[in-house]
Amino acid sequence: MADKSIPFMREISVDTRLITERLCLRAVALSDVEMTWSATRFDGFNDGMIWDRPKTRGQLVDRTQESLSLWKEGSLFTYTVELVDASTPIGRVAIKQTNALRVWNVGFWIHPEFWGQGYATEAARAVLDFGFSALHASKLVTAHAIWNIRSKRVIEKLGFRYTGKNPCGFRKQGKPEEEYEYEIESSAL
Ligand SMILES: CC(C)(COP(=O)(O)OP(=O)(O)OC[C@H]1O[C@@H](n2cnc3c(N)ncnc32)[C@H](O)[C@@H]1OP(=O)(O)O)[C@@H](O)C(=O)NCCC(=O)NCCS
Repeated sequence: MADKSIPFMREISVDTRLITERLCLRAVALSDVEMTWSATRFDGFNDGMIWDRPKTRGQLVDRTQESLSLWKEGSLFTYTVELVDASTPIGRVAIKQTNALRVWNVGFWIHPEFWGQGYATEAARAVLDFGFSALHASKLVTAHAIWNIRSKRVIEKLGFRYTGKNPCGFRKQGKPEEEYEYEIESSAL
């Protein structure tokens, strides 16, 4: 029988763990809703991300379930970042397939109470490794709103190369948001 699977989709167990020095990354879970809700209450937190501030916790429950479905489908792997010592959830890193073969997009956020300690960089680095080794990506791409200097710094520390400005990376309240775009190839790690 012919193999109908799409070659760039990958079957990855939802029990997968990515372990770093200080962090454990695991699949999103409904138990993260409170942490995510709390992060999204901080002024400005949502401004650099494609999604709008959720109005209810129920919206986060729906998003979590959708993320888990897409994980099982093999097109989006959304990891919750936990402190390895305490199993405290502190943020997310997601890797999503693009329309281009073997090119995946990486996005991340950390709860504002944990900013400035290198957690986003450490967590995203683990997902870059996952993208190249488990997903066999040939290239990873990412982007940030042009004013988002914290995100820019994380992307630079990860070793991404700037590729250009997108006049409408995403829309916020109907208005286009300019983004700087980046890429990295496995040989750069
Ligand atoms: C962007 C974000 C993920 C960074 O998380 P983090 O865990 O604080 O990131 P790190 O600690 O790994 O690195 C942050 C870097 O920004 C730097 N930084 C922080 N505030 C800064 C400022 N005002 N100006 C310049 N650099 C700044 C830090 O010094 C650090 O760089 P360094 O290691 O060279 O000192 C976090 O701010 C966030 O979740 N923001 C909201 C969501 C978001 O915008 N996500 C990205 C979408 S593209």
